[in-house]
Amino acid sequence: MTLPGSPFLARRGAALELEGHLLADLGRRFGTPLFVYSRQAMRAAFQAYEQALSGRAHLVCYAMKANSNLAVLQTFARAGAGFDIVSGGELARVLAAGGDPSRVVFSGVGKTRAEMRQALQAGVRCFNVESEGELERLNEEALAMGRRAPVSLRVNPDVDAGTHPYISTGLKANKFGIAHGRALATYQRAASLPGLQVVGIDCHIGSQITQLAPYLDALDRLLDLVEAVEAVGIPIHHVDVGGGLGITYADEQPPQASALVAGLLERLDARGHGQRELLFEPGRSLVGNAGVLLTEVLYLKPGRDEDAAGDGLGKNFCIVDAAMNDLVRPAMYDAFMAIEPCVRRAGPGSTWDVVGPVCESGDWLGRDRPLAVQPGDILAVLSAGAYGMAMASNYNTRPRAAEVMVDGAQVHLIREREALSSLFAQERLI
Ligand code: LLP
Repeated sequence: MTLPGSPFLARRGAALELEGHLLADLGRRFGTPLFVYSRQAMRAAFQAYEQALSGRAHLVCYAMKANSNLAVLQTFARAGAGFDIVSGGELARVLAAGGDPSRVVFSGVGKTRAEMRQALQAGVRCFNVESEGELERLNEEALAMGRRAPVSLRVNPDVDAGTHPYISTGLKANKFGIAHGRALATYQRAASLPGLQVVGIDCHIGSQITQLAPYLDALDRLLDLVEAVEAVGIPIHHVDVGGGLGITYADEQPPQASALVAGLLERLDARGHGQRELLFEPGRSLVGNAGVLLTEVLYLKPGRDEDAAGDGLGKNFCIVDAAMNDLVRPAMYDAFMAIEPCVRRAGPGSTWDVVGPVCESGDWLGRDRPLAVQPGDILAVLSAGAYGMAMASNYNTRPRAAEVMVDGAQVHLIREREALSSLFAQERLI
């Protein structure tokens, strides 16, 4: 049976397997809620970019905000990836995982002086600068350290990525990047500052993008600028097209990474920029469909099926042990994420709202899902490898989930479940 997402996830008979491992067994062995990732799925997703880019100057920088577990970073570092970071904390993780700082690009609208110094010290490949104020400050910090900071300006191309407003970033109305109309002047300013070295141009137009056209529009807008900036004598080495490629959560059909890369290379060639180094910052498309969140059914409240009033307003609630603190995407973006039983039961089942124990009505993982379930069953929320654990919180003083990585025959616990005592270890009684 085909499931949305990964070829490494399959149903054999009644049982759901990831890389051949029975998910129900992993849930019982490590407890729930539990994130389980396929290392092979991550490697394959990365290789899809690499293969399409072979023979071209390029660097694929994994946008680690999507999933920053050290073992995930280690997997990509070993495969030859660079990293897109947005904080000093992420840089520390890259170094702890054995990543190469000279393959790191530092994005983000609000870099602090301390973060700039940390990144200069580590020797990152470039700073994706998002404002004129940041440019001045970075120049000061670099001069104080006797360095030149490599910079790429993140330009806001003002194109509509056609995605959810919270994850669309390339429009004028968004806080990200330097306005296209100001970019040339900002490049001239950057080139005049002794603590800076212009190395590239960058954009990132949004996330969960399912069309090729917005990427081509953004690239055209960037290349217009490259030509204008080089015409005034400022060379631009690389073009960074950001991340944002969507994945299949339900029935979306985003372009494959290979098609995205081919489309962009074709446009670069057509405009005579074929020799330029191309950078990508994919997050979700490298890890999203490599992971699932396992959760146990605690209680069933069949409020619709057993609604005595018969007014049709009742709902059936399937209460599970994972909540919005473990996986916030449904609550935060109204996101659909497929939910599958780890072992399918016979029979027609019913329609359930799958909800967590957190004290908020917004705490739901799926609505109106047809499922045959009983308390004690383990469900898998699919496509949970990206922006799942990375966005998890301790709301309701719930310890964050454990994480497991399967890799062929091997099963690795890559993050222990948080201990209750650690949740308030930093707090003090008065
Ligand atoms: N580069 C920059 C500068 C970014 O801001 C992002 C994501 C990426 C790369 C990676 O984008 P991706 O390939 O993963 O789409 N929490 C949201 C997604 C937020 C994306 C933020 N920026 C979600 O769960 O849908």
